[in-house]
Amino acid sequence: MNVAFFANAAYIVAALLFILSLAGLSNHESARSGLRFGIVGMTIALVATIWLTLTNLWAESQAVLGIAILVGAILIGAAIGLWRARVVEMTGMPELIALLHSFVGLAAVLIGWNGALYAEDIAPELVGIHHAEVFIGVFIGAVTFTGSIVAFLKLSARISSKPLMLPGKNGLNIAALVLFVAFTVWYVITPELWLLVAVTALALLLGWHLVASIGGGDMPVVISMLNSYSGWAAAAAGFLLNNDLLIVTGALVGSSGAYLSYIMCRAMNRSFISVITGGFGIEKPTAKGEEEVGEYRETDAQAVAELLSSADTVIITPGYGMAVAQAQYPVAELTSQLRAKGVNVRFGIHPVAGRLPGHMNVLLAEAKVPYDIVLEMDEVNDDFEETSVVLVIGANDTCNPAAAEDPSSPIAGMPVLKVWEADNVVVFKRSMASGYAGVQNPLFFRENAAMLFGDAKQRVEDIIRAL
Ligand code: TAP
Repeated sequence: MNVAFFANAAYIVAALLFILSLAGLSNHESARSGLRFGIVGMTIALVATIWLTLTNLWAESQAVLGIAILVGAILIGAAIGLWRARVVEMTGMPELIALLHSFVGLAAVLIGWNGALYAEDIAPELVGIHHAEVFIGVFIGAVTFTGSIVAFLKLSARISSKPLMLPGKNGLNIAALVLFVAFTVWYVITPELWLLVAVTALALLLGWHLVASIGGGDMPVVISMLNSYSGWAAAAAGFLLNNDLLIVTGALVGSSGAYLSYIMCRAMNRSFISVITGGFGIEKPTAKGEEEVGEYRETDAQAVAELLSSADTVIITPGYGMAVAQAQYPVAELTSQLRAKGVNVRFGIHPVAGRLPGHMNVLLAEAKVPYDIVLEMDEVNDDFEETSVVLVIGANDTCNPAAAEDPSSPIAGMPVLKVWEADNVVVFKRSMASGYAGVQNPLFFRENAAMLFGDAKQRVEDIIRAL
């Protein structure tokens, strides 16, 4: 029995652990054990791969140089990874994830190029398949690479999150796909280097255009879609490297990312096909978006404390601003004080509140808010009519009535929390600035709404003092 045999056995165990990990991550209670399965699986996979690679390198003439490069690359990569994971803020996670996806894409491109330039010992009957694998790997990898970089730039506000609307953008995307198929067939018949250069450039442009064309409310779906693409890119690299674990893991990431994108599209009333094809069929919105639409009323912590003291039902709808302010701890404290006074307090969580799927749930769990009062949008949306006070804490797009009422709005059709149906709505934010989608929110100008300006954490602490 040789090292390759043990490595394959380890790969099967790792693949099973990854499947258990995905199953565990599907709900709150089992999420921790899901993470543990993932960590153990990845450790087994890494140890087996490094051992196998070192053994193979040892048999070669330049063993020492090869091993030094491998160990050096692992140490540098691990050090940067550890440092980033330790310092990243919860609010910076989506852009970090987007950046990590870009590395998977780049790795697939490099593996594809390596496979094309240095392929050895390929049986004549498999040469065509090998060429197709190279092309598909490079294409998916390059789309993932530039797409993820654009997502990173948009999420970190280095470029505008608004969708790019090039004239004939759908035609451009379709033309790129048709060219890709034509180039692939051509390359399988006559593998000329310029074709590989052309498909790499084409895919880099397509990835950039696909993600640049999507914006505002659809960005969450783009992240999970890029997650899926990075999985398929890894699977394509697995075929080229003849690595079964990479194929299985890539397929797991690819299919679970695609399914998450599909669920998110359903939750946001968006067409899945439209989003994965770079906003296919989405027309440029006609509403201007950021203009103020009337007079707003300002309130203060004392007045909100009085309002809450006389309320019998309160719903809190947190959003990205609660994460920025780290207001979850005083929010949890306010909740327990109100509940102690007999007020029925619940939370309404929009599926894309914040910047990550489950972002608000994680923050509220961290602050030990009981799970049973944290409800999904669909569970709470019919209850606003009978609610005395809604506290909108750092949320904006996710409770924008324009999404439900104004077909010309850039976020038209996105299901939102119907907070405006409550008797009183208090909006915690620092200014009249728009939210992530860059759209003004008519909620702020409604008669039953009042603005409580300032940092959400400080304002909630002020209310606790006033209570
Ligand atoms: P947003 O619409 O992004 O609005 C957040 C609001 O928080 C802003 O209007 C901001 O107003 C306020 N804010 C920021 N810092 C604050 C602070 N320290 N104290 C008080 N308020 C503060 O939030 P949302 O309602 O959660 O909606 C999420 C948006 O992000 C959606 O458009 C969604 O599509 C998008 N998105 C979501 C995800 C996922 S998966 N969840 C991923 C990417 C994008 P001021 O600046 O005036 O304070």
